[in-house]
Amino acid sequence: MEELTSYAKRRGFVFQASEIYGGLGGFWDLGPYGAELADNIKASWWKEFVYKNANVVGVNTTIIQNPKLWKASGHIDTFVDPMVDCKECKHRFRADHVAGIDTNDLKKLDEKLKETACPNCGARHSFTPARTFQMMFKTYVGPIEDDANVSYLRPETAGGIFAQYENVRETTRKKLPFGIAQIGKAFRNEITPGDFIFRLRELTQMELEFFTKPKEAAKQYEFWKDYCMQWLLSLGLNKENLRFHDHADDERAHYAEASVDVQYNYPFGFKELYGIANRTDYDLSAHAKQSGKDLTYFDEETGERFMPYVIEPSVGVERLLMAVMLDAYDEEEVNGEKRVVMRFAPHIAPVKVAVLPLSKKPELSKLSQKVFSEIAGEYNVEYDETQSIGKRYRRQDEIGTPYCVTVDFDSLNDDSVTVRERDSMKQERIKISELKSYLSAKLFV
Ligand code: GAP
Repeated sequence: MEELTSYAKRRGFVFQASEIYGGLGGFWDLGPYGAELADNIKASWWKEFVYKNANVVGVNTTIIQNPKLWKASGHIDTFVDPMVDCKECKHRFRADHVAGIDTNDLKKLDEKLKETACPNCGARHSFTPARTFQMMFKTYVGPIEDDANVSYLRPETAGGIFAQYENVRETTRKKLPFGIAQIGKAFRNEITPGDFIFRLRELTQMELEFFTKPKEAAKQYEFWKDYCMQWLLSLGLNKENLRFHDHADDERAHYAEASVDVQYNYPFGFKELYGIANRTDYDLSAHAKQSGKDLTYFDEETGERFMPYVIEPSVGVERLLMAVMLDAYDEEEVNGEKRVVMRFAPHIAPVKVAVLPLSKKPELSKLSQKVFSEIAGEYNVEYDETQSIGKRYRRQDEIGTPYCVTVDFDSLNDDSVTVRERDSMKQERIKISELKSYLSAKLFV
C-alpha cells in the first residue's frame, strides 16, 4: 500500500488533501491523471448503467437535504459504527475491526474484546465498553446554529433518489421495472479512515436504485449482481481478483433483506468493492410514512396497488480507482532494464495518446503541433518534447498511455508518423491523414 500511495503521488494520480498543511485524515485529492481516470470510470459506468438500459434514467440531487429524509431512511438512528478506546494508550478503534467480527452488536463486541489485546500497545483488558458513533457529518442551514437548523451531508446518494422517485416516475412516464441512477459525493465521518483511498470521509458514489415488483425482486437482484461483475471485468480487472461475498444476517445494512459484495483482492486481502442490496420497500414505505405522500404504484395490467421493491448496486469511485490502479500495475524487463507499465484498458486510460517529436528542432515541433491539433479535443492527448524518446516512452508507460505517436525527420517527407502500442511496444507507420480514425478505432473498440 505504501508503494501504491507513493507511486500515485509521484505520477500525479492522488495527493493528500491540504498536504501543505499536514493533510486531513480520510480526505484525498485527485491529481491530473487521477481526475481523468476517475472521470473515465464514471463515464463508463453511466454508459453501461444508464445509456444501455432504456428503463434507467439519471438524476443529480443535492448533498444537503431536509433532515426528515435521514430520519425516515433510518440513518439518524442507525447509521452508526461501534467504537472503543484503549485506556492505556488512548488509541481509538472501530470495535468490530479490533474484535475481528462483522457486527454492530455491542454485547457481542464487548465479549470478544475481553480476549483481545490492543493492536497499538498490546495491553490486555484495556478497552472501554464499545459504544456507537453517528457517522453523518452535521451542519447548520442558515446563520443560526441551533437544533432546529441541523442538517447532514448525505452519507449515500440514494436518499435524494428515493425522495424524487415519484417526480421522476411521473415526468418520465416509466413503468416498473425502472431505475434511477446518480453519481455524486457522499460523506461519512469514519472512525478509522485509511488504507489510502479505501476508506474515505469524502467519497464519490455511483448508485442505481432499480424499482421492481416485489415478486420480481429476487430475479432482478441476480440480474444486477451479474451485470456489476461483467462491468468490472470490462474495466480490465482480473477475474481472479474478484469474488462475491454474501452477507450474513448481522453484516447487512439496516435496510437490506439480502446483500452481497463484490470483493477485490487488495494488498490487505479480499475486501468490499461493490455492494448490491435488496432494499425491499423499506425506503419508499419509510418516506411515504414520514412525508405523508402516497408512494405506492398502481399496476394497470393487474389492477394491483403496492409499494415497489428496490435493488441497489452501489460502488465508490475512489475505491474502484484504487483497485483499477493495483490491477493495472505491472513490471517487466526490457533489454536488461525494468519497465513499469500501467496496463489500463484503453477506454479508461487517463491519457489516450502522447504526441512525441523525436527532437525539439523547429520543423519537427511545427509538424508535431499540427498532429496534436488534429487528434486533440475528443480525448486526452499529451504533448511532450522534453528528454530522450526512450525516457518519454517510459514515462507514458508509467501512466498507462496506450499509444505514443512519434514525429521524426522522415515524417517531413512521407507525411507519416510512428505509432507505438504500450503493451506489445510494436511500432507501426501510419499516414497523418489516417491517424485520427486509426486511433479512434483502437481506443474505443
Ligand atoms: N447506498 C448504499 C450504500 O451506501 P455501502 O455499502 O455503505 O452502501 C456502497 O456503500 C459503496 O460505497 C461501497 O461498496 C464502497 O465501494 C463505497 N464506500 C462506502 N463507504 C466508503 C468509504 N468510507 N470510503 C470509500 N468508499 C466507500
